[in-house]
Amino acid sequence: MERLRVIGGHRLTGQIRISGAKNAVLKLMAASLLASDVTIIQNVPRIRDVEIMVKVLQSLGVEVTWDDRSTLRLDPRQGIHYSAPDELVREMRASVQVMGPLLTRLGQVKLFQPGGCVIGQRPIDLHLKGFQALGAEVVEEHGYVYVQAPKLRGAEIHLDFPSVGATENIMAAAILAEGTTVIRNAAKEPEIIEEQNFYNRLGARIRGAGTDMIRIEGVSRLQPKPIEYTVIPDRIEAGTYMLAAAITGGDLELEEVIPEHLESLTAKLREAGAEIVTAEERLRIRVGRRLSAVDVTVLPYPGFPTDLQPQIAAVLSLADGTSVLTENVFGSRFRYVDELIRMGANIRVEGRSAIVKGVPRLTGASVIAPDLRAGASLVVAGLAAEGETILEGVAYLDRGYEAMEQKLQAVGADIRRESDAPVETEMVV
Ligand code: EPZ
Repeated sequence: MERLRVIGGHRLTGQIRISGAKNAVLKLMAASLLASDVTIIQNVPRIRDVEIMVKVLQSLGVEVTWDDRSTLRLDPRQGIHYSAPDELVREMRASVQVMGPLLTRLGQVKLFQPGGCVIGQRPIDLHLKGFQALGAEVVEEHGYVYVQAPKLRGAEIHLDFPSVGATENIMAAAILAEGTTVIRNAAKEPEIIEEQNFYNRLGARIRGAGTDMIRIEGVSRLQPKPIEYTVIPDRIEAGTYMLAAAITGGDLELEEVIPEHLESLTAKLREAGAEIVTAEERLRIRVGRRLSAVDVTVLPYPGFPTDLQPQIAAVLSLADGTSVLTENVFGSRFRYVDELIRMGANIRVEGRSAIVKGVPRLTGASVIAPDLRAGASLVVAGLAAEGETILEGVAYLDRGYEAMEQKLQAVGADIRRESDAPVETEMVV
């Protein structure tokens, strides 16, 4: 079992380079199922979710290798199967993003029904309704989802909720469909623009990603050519380190970010009293005094991202005044609250809202990460807490953050990883 040991109270100062975006690269990897030649993806973060997606694609028949530390080579020319192993789908919900590409490539896909993850029930009903609108037949039985579509036909689809995954899966399933598909109330996340660009490089005809209406003109086939693609920087990793700088009263420069992708967080932190300066691919945040309380309303992009809600709650735990955080994307994403309370935070959850009453100090404690972003929230809190915080559940952090403790150590944090490696005991004979 591994854990992180954090001694709080050190201002973060210096530079952090942001890695490629987890929530973009996983989808580009799935999208490579539609290529008929080699795909090279650059700026790939070395995180657990990427390793799981590598296994998913290999189980589907794709030859996946690392060209270098951050470059993946995906070769689907050995033939593709239509189903992935249950344990991989169970381990990572994002495995469902292979459904759209497999439907388009093979006309069928069968997957273990993805589990509702700890941040609330996470069905895929919007994905399946989209597939049915395109003419697919969906059967859910024995814990599996089986989708088949000998012929996909373009359709007008209106999403009940701007689901990121559903938008991406429906877009992939519409690429070779007969006729035009329009997705309305589509998710507008930057990652979706990346997929549009990737598919259009393969000869697809997609327009509108980044807006709430995406139009996909079905084409008869994609271009059989190799393509190279570079992953955009991870806006959630960047936002996490901005919040770590904020809680420690630091002065941090982020390199290789897209400031525009962080507009909502930047605006919120400025409102709380942070100084933030942005340039082409850089962002600098300085916090010289106690931040003021601010209210945060989570909304689909470009609203405040749900994936930074736990982390800003940690920062606001030390702000001057009372903040109200409202989570409008997931059913329950407050599992980190009990752990922050153990560190001295004053937070009350009422339905979809957390009322955060700023306290003068947090104190280090032994805490457990219940999920990826809750774990990040506890690291952020530990960086400012008085004394030592021991964080269990590091495996969650490793799913979404590349070299987190190294990046934080390099800007002054006292954080290190420990493991319960079996101690060699001298055999007394
Ligand atoms: C993506 O998940 C991200 N994951 C999530 O990041 C992110 O929090 C989420 O988008 C919202 O931005 C990846 O990209 C791998 P949704 P996704 O479909 O696609 C409900 C992280 O920490 N819903 O937009 O699964 C769903 O239950 C992760 O990096 C349905 O009801 O999110 C949720 O309440 C966490 N039916 C809401 O919509 C459906 O068919 C948003 O889900 C699909 C979704």
